[in-house]
Amino acid sequence: MLTRLIAALALLFLVTAPALGQDVAIASPGKVIEVKLSLNGEGRIHYRIDRHGAPVIGESQLGFLFTDQPQMLRNFAIVGQRTRDHDETWEQPWGEDRRIRDHYRELSVDFEEKSALKRRMTLEFRVYDDGLGFRYRLPARADGKATNIAEELTQFRIASDGRAYWAPAFESNREEYLYNATPIGGVGTAQTPLTMVLADGTHLSIHEAALVDYSGMNVARVEGTLLKAVLTPSSSGAKVSRTGEFTTPWRMLTIAPDAPALYAARNLILNLNEPNALGDVSWVTPRKYVGIWWGMHLETQSWASGSKHGATTANALKLIDFAAKHHIAGMLVEGWNVGWDGDWFANGQGFSFTKPYPDFDMPRIAAYAKRQGVSLIGHHETSANIAHYEAQMGAGFDYFRAHGIDAIKTGYVSDAGGVQALGADGRIHFEWHEGQVMARHHLKVVTEAAKRRIMINAHEPIKDSGLRRTYPNWVSREGQRGMEYNAWGVPKNPPVYDTQLFFTRMLAGPMDYTPGIVSLKGRGDTDILSTLARQLALYVVIYSPVAMAADLQENYEASPVAFDFIKQVPVDWDQTRVLSGAIGEQVVVARKDRKSADWYVGGVTSEVARDASVPLDFLPAGKRFTAHIYRDGPTAEAGAKGKDMIHEVRSVTRGDTLALRMAPGGGFAIRLAARSRR
Ligand code: NOJ
Ligand code: CA
Repeated sequence: MLTRLIAALALLFLVTAPALGQDVAIASPGKVIEVKLSLNGEGRIHYRIDRHGAPVIGESQLGFLFTDQPQMLRNFAIVGQRTRDHDETWEQPWGEDRRIRDHYRELSVDFEEKSALKRRMTLEFRVYDDGLGFRYRLPARADGKATNIAEELTQFRIASDGRAYWAPAFESNREEYLYNATPIGGVGTAQTPLTMVLADGTHLSIHEAALVDYSGMNVARVEGTLLKAVLTPSSSGAKVSRTGEFTTPWRMLTIAPDAPALYAARNLILNLNEPNALGDVSWVTPRKYVGIWWGMHLETQSWASGSKHGATTANALKLIDFAAKHHIAGMLVEGWNVGWDGDWFANGQGFSFTKPYPDFDMPRIAAYAKRQGVSLIGHHETSANIAHYEAQMGAGFDYFRAHGIDAIKTGYVSDAGGVQALGADGRIHFEWHEGQVMARHHLKVVTEAAKRRIMINAHEPIKDSGLRRTYPNWVSREGQRGMEYNAWGVPKNPPVYDTQLFFTRMLAGPMDYTPGIVSLKGRGDTDILSTLARQLALYVVIYSPVAMAADLQENYEASPVAFDFIKQVPVDWDQTRVLSGAIGEQVVVARKDRKSADWYVGGVTSEVARDASVPLDFLPAGKRFTAHIYRDGPTAEAGAKGKDMIHEVRSVTRGDTLALRMAPGGGFAIRLAARSRR
């Protein structure tokens, strides 16, 4: 079943006369947020945003630079405006919440240049009580040519200084960087989501929604706390090239009084996307999975052929048995296909997406998995050679489908700017992972996969802009530093990272973080900066509808208590509540299972030990629950002492409060199983 409209209330279209003055304003439904658009004496368009009357974004310019026509920046007049109210509640096929309310007021303002060119542009604002989106609508060019954008001149004048949490843009590891925590006045060139806490405590995150056929937006500081959009470059000169009328992605500002409210506003990105375009998506089925994977990152196994080859028939059959025994629905196999020998980072050209290595008997493995009730998850590493991949992609999808595989993890490993794409001139061009070429590529992958009822989980992806609403088979992606960094080391993900990730990257959508390393060991027996209880907490905190039990089979067999939680924890939720949180300090989140009355709670802290108080007031009244609590023991701390975990079982009810100590780099996980009787 798909995105279902539950209630469509007002869809009121009001056409009002053009303003006599040159200022236009619109407030959110609850009058929390107000946007003002104005034209100055030079006919430059500015917008500003207030929350409860206090400025969040000061006067900021809007406009465009083009590669082949004069800029659009000044000499504008308002020639039309419309407002519209919208309130509906819709249902997600899967996600962190089943029902989502989409309640906004919209303002569209048409501008025309007073100069000889008389070009037009429309600005559309959708204003919610917890944020807003705005986008440009540009008409087709009068001469029929493409609109070639050199830069988008959108600014964000942050109203005060404060703290900013940001990962650098345009660096070689793409989206995979630790967060900088700096004054807003210390932001460099940042990826989005970029999250800030203003001087008055207002939490603001800048990101984008519906990144379709356009280049990804980064944000760079101009001076003081003035930031500006910087689009991702393209090999063709113009950063964006579009023919006919088009809209830009939504420039999205999530605005909340505190950190928990910021995460609570995360569905803004889905509301700003178009509804499900795929029809029946009952075949999109969230799941946990194990895989032939961590061994490669530990270097005890290899993707490449040879004595260490991980993807052998024997290994696969063994892991299928393990998954079946423990009711883990999925199993990923990497290194199954020809092309990994030698320097696979550089040899995308050598990958076959239809040819397994000789020691991987795909028909036998697929048949065995089917008999055991385990779903295989396929893998397509492309080394970011999308020219090579696109030529084989359809055949690769068909090959997997023929073997009953309905989910694929894709990968685009290459340094930033190293995507190889086929240009219109028939030549290979080097592109960025978040440029317009890749925005197009990913949608091609997702829609071609959907035709075959296949789900996609992309690594080294383009940023998440909420397109899972429109294409619900785009179930997850990576797009920040996942667990693999804890295998490699130098540096491993520090505990503070997860508490920043939650309020930045996780505002964009699901992340295939691959948690659950219960051994707490990376490559060469090095310690992971986590406790065991925290590894369990990550399943609740870091949302993904496809969640990996990433450790080796033998490590789970040696940790049955921890593994029991991993087996139980759902990947699809009915609702989500952030119980407490502060960026870079800690987060505690509760989620209700979609298929039962059970609740789960996860908490993680930074390097600092903290006492969490968890009131169970989200539970329904009059019902008893069995709480299975997995918490840090008295000697626990991230690293070598991380395995000290206490597992206790208690009967609890609404009104109870759990007091839980989180060790340095620690956390806790709770399963609240509803009892059938009081
Ligand atoms: C990087 C991905 O993040 C990882 O999960 C994968 O194993 C390797 N690339 C190889 O594709
Ligand atoms: Ca990666």
